Amino acid sequence: MECMFGPVLWYWPSTCGFTEDLCQIGAGVSLPGILAAKCGAEVILSDSSELPHCLEVCRQSCLMNDLPQVHIVGLTWGHVSRDLLALPPQDIILASDVFFEPEDFEDILTTVYFLMQKNPKVQLWSTYQVRSADWSVEALLYKWDMKCVHIPLESFDANKEDIAESALPGRHTVEMLVISFAKDSL
Ligand SMILES: C[S@@+](CC[C@H](N)C(=O)[O-])C[C@H]1O[C@@H](n2cnc3c(N)ncnc32)[C@H](O)[C@@H]1O
Repeated sequence: MECMFGPVLWYWPSTCGFTEDLCQIGAGVSLPGILAAKCGAEVILSDSSELPHCLEVCRQSCLMNDLPQVHIVGLTWGHVSRDLLALPPQDIILASDVFFEPEDFEDILTTVYFLMQKNPKVQLWSTYQVRSADWSVEALLYKWDMKCVHIPLESFDANKEDIAESALPGRHTVEMLVISFAKDSL
């Protein structure tokens, strides 16, 4: 990553010592998952099983970053597939910019719900670009017995228009949420 972006100015905010089992959903280019793997987490990258070119992008990211140990699986949101059922319990699910289509919101939470059955303490960390102030996951969280905490970007120094000299997020509004099982204490 240093080759692509210059000196690494960001670190992975580990919850239990850089050894988490972590699955990124809708991974695409996979930057957060790659960073977590570089910091020592056991990472599984996933993207839709119906979009092989996206899974290939995950593979390329691992190749370019010398991470042959990272597993890549096809996980389509809302599909209870053999690959989803075979996943080991996860500590963290990363979901970077996956809440962009309201029709997908419940499918995403269905997949998360299955992972919560394996580990009720799993947390979903999601950053997303606010595309419409009318969209909300609140009712769905209630339906699926989940709760969510808003993480202020300033709490990890990310409330800037130009993070790590990337010119991102620019003028876009970005939010971060941590979603967990309602009966677990965050
Ligand atoms: C906006 S991109 C975000 C990519 C990456 N996480 C990031 O932050 O750059 C959305 C990603 O979700 C994936 N995706 C879209 N529909 C999906 C589905 N039904 N199941 C699983 N992944 C899906 C896309 O292939 C794409 O990689």
